[in-house]
Amino acid sequence: MQNEYQSVRAIFDPERLQVYIETYGCQMNVNDSEVVLSILQKAGYALCDKIEDASLVLINTCAIRDNAEQRILGRLEVFRLEKKKNPGLVVGVLGCMAERLKEQLLAHPVVDLVAGPDAYRDLPRLIAAVTADGKQINTILSHEETYADISPVRMDRNAVSAYISIMRGCNNVCSYCVVPYTRGAERSRDPQTILHEARELFANGYKEISLLGQNVDSYNWKGVPGSEQTMDFADLLEQVALIDPSLRVRFSTSHPKDMSDKVLYTMAKYPNICRHIHLPVQSGSNAMLEKMNRKHTREWYLERIESIRRIIPGCSITTDVIAGFCGETEADHQDTLDLFRKVGFDAAFMFQYSERPGTKAARHFADDVPPEVKTTRLNEIIALQNSLSLESNRRDIGKVFEVLIEGPSKRSDKDMVGRTSQNKACVFKASGYKAGDYVNVKVVDCTSATLLCELA
Ligand code: SAH
Ligand code: SF4
Ligand code: F3S
Repeated sequence: MQNEYQSVRAIFDPERLQVYIETYGCQMNVNDSEVVLSILQKAGYALCDKIEDASLVLINTCAIRDNAEQRILGRLEVFRLEKKKNPGLVVGVLGCMAERLKEQLLAHPVVDLVAGPDAYRDLPRLIAAVTADGKQINTILSHEETYADISPVRMDRNAVSAYISIMRGCNNVCSYCVVPYTRGAERSRDPQTILHEARELFANGYKEISLLGQNVDSYNWKGVPGSEQTMDFADLLEQVALIDPSLRVRFSTSHPKDMSDKVLYTMAKYPNICRHIHLPVQSGSNAMLEKMNRKHTREWYLERIESIRRIIPGCSITTDVIAGFCGETEADHQDTLDLFRKVGFDAAFMFQYSERPGTKAARHFADDVPPEVKTTRLNEIIALQNSLSLESNRRDIGKVFEVLIEGPSKRSDKDMVGRTSQNKACVFKASGYKAGDYVNVKVVDCTSATLLCELA
């Protein structure tokens, strides 16, 4: 057991070359950093947690909104100071911003290496070439790369919960979104490699697996060439759920236009598939949804919500929303607030529209909602969602939930924190339990963000 465990966790070895990795952006980027670490461990590196100890610094970046990129440019200034202290330090920029800006980033004085999301197998060669010949870049996107054969080296805190990317890229071209350009075309990963990875994690003590893709509902494995065999997302979900009833399965992100009843019925059939669906709506206005190229209406979205409630009672529903998209009127904004009230989301990620160069929206529509109006609308959505989250949590008071313990709470070592199947954070006093244990708790009180519980 101990040996196998080593194979999925990061090695800390002072005798090796040291790499320091910082990750920004979505869960898929976090998982990509684990793929990168796997490739680098094989090339003789070990992960370090202090930049001062590193000979190689990698920053895995996000390009989704302008403020995400600004934050990364700020970090590069910090690396510039580190490089003054240690001139041999190699600085590499990976991920979506690397893919978007390419040579522009390579020209940054502190950057030695730029590698896009499909170029990570090339990292050992690129790093060696930096030392020999100076700056290096590989931002070639692939139609096939899924890193299917690479076992990610896990960097999570507690070895309870792990990500598995089941696909890469996106074919949807929502008009505001940079992802199809930074991650390339959608491709599904061989299900056998996904199941192998999930089984290995479970054998090593992991209790929760999150299957990741930009649009998991379009997962489609066409099988080996020449064979008729195909597998959709519901089939894959079922296979992962069957690994063990004590293995929790989560997934993200669902797309309202593609989320099928077959997926919902599969969830209903297996209690270990968590009762939570993240279903980004982006706007409650049909005019905005059309302009965003989301390919569904408000009515379609509300029908999907009804189906979730009917087929999986007790399922939590969360969303993403964008305030102030091109041409958004006050009436459009009111439609969004109204949809939020109708659905009563359990939680939401809420953003102001940020124009991304090269996207369809940037090319065809004016970014014409004034910044202060975007902020006002966003704040109204946030205020409404806070009250909806509080209402949702209040409805849980008095109920008993099975919680998977993640470890001590950040605020106090005496409290434990864990999550319900619905993905709500629970805080409770418990001694004699550890991360990875399941325990039943009763909700006695709440805030808008947390359920306050006691052992049931
Ligand atoms: N694939 C997922 C989401 C990926 S990006 C999906 O289709 O839902 C995560 C969220 O960032 C999006 O859901 C959206 O709400 C937000 N987002 C994407 N592009 C944005 C932009 N240009 N400005 C503001 N928010 C954006
Ligand atoms: Fe972007 Fe739309 Fe693809 Fe999500 S589905 S990653 S929002 S293009
Ligand atoms: Fe950001 Fe790329 Fe993810 S743009 S949100 S890191 S896919």
